[in-house]
Amino acid sequence: MKIIMLGAPGAGKGTQAKQIADKYSIPHISTGDIFRANIKNGTELGKKAKQYMDQGALVPDELTCDLVMDRIQQDDCKNGFVLDGFPRTIPQAEALDAALGKINEKMDYAIDVDVPDENIVNRMSGRRACLNCGATYHLISIPPKVEGICDRCGSEIVLREDDKPETVQKRLKVYHEQTQPLIDYYKNQGILKSVDGTQPMDEVFKAIVTILGA
Ligand code: AP5
Ligand code: ZN
Repeated sequence: MKIIMLGAPGAGKGTQAKQIADKYSIPHISTGDIFRANIKNGTELGKKAKQYMDQGALVPDELTCDLVMDRIQQDDCKNGFVLDGFPRTIPQAEALDAALGKINEKMDYAIDVDVPDENIVNRMSGRRACLNCGATYHLISIPPKVEGICDRCGSEIVLREDDKPETVQKRLKVYHEQTQPLIDYYKNQGILKSVDGTQPMDEVFKAIVTILGA
């Protein structure tokens, strides 16, 4: 099963993608997580990506597409994968379709997690992320067991640089201009499904399982 998660920044794509990956035993591929790991490890890619990410801008397609195309050709992707944060522009979606087309494959579902902008800023200001293992928390809805510490790996959890309110506004603007057109793109392909992302997390997940099948 090959799935794309669509939705505004903070809509809950990552939260749902992790659960989908567990339930259906497919890899979770998050371009945001890949870039953040590269930043942490000080790679050339990380240095380039950071300049864009900290501003709330998109990393250029030429740095992003090859990375994903290489990843989805790895062995663990044979039975499918869930893409989180990619594609984010029409050229990225076209590059993905072209790469899959070459091996006679196509995406099965594009799931749009729909959350209005008003809810987003609140969610992001409460989000805390572990820069070591990628786990995500929310100060109110999913607090860690010990304040400020990741349950999974014991590292410190922090407010992401791009979750500051002024950067969130910029990311929302970029989302509406560059990513939202993908909703029509996948609607035209007949694979778009929408879920109400304002519901509690487990309700959102139930709605997704209803779409994908148990
Ligand atoms: P990325 O990491 O992909 O960020 P994003 O799309 O902005 O998404 P987020 O990770 O912010 O949110 P999410 O939807 O996954 O929500 P989450 O589940 O964490 O990208 C970061 C940057 O990298 C981009 O700005 C760009 O610069 C670059 N980049 C990445 N991919 C790129 C690409 N393809 N092309 C170019 N550039 C790229 O949830 C958010 C919070 O809400 C959490 O605290 C969570 O606990 C909480 N929450 C989740 N669900 C619920 C719920 N149902 N109810 C209440 N709270 C909830
Ligand atoms: Zn951790």
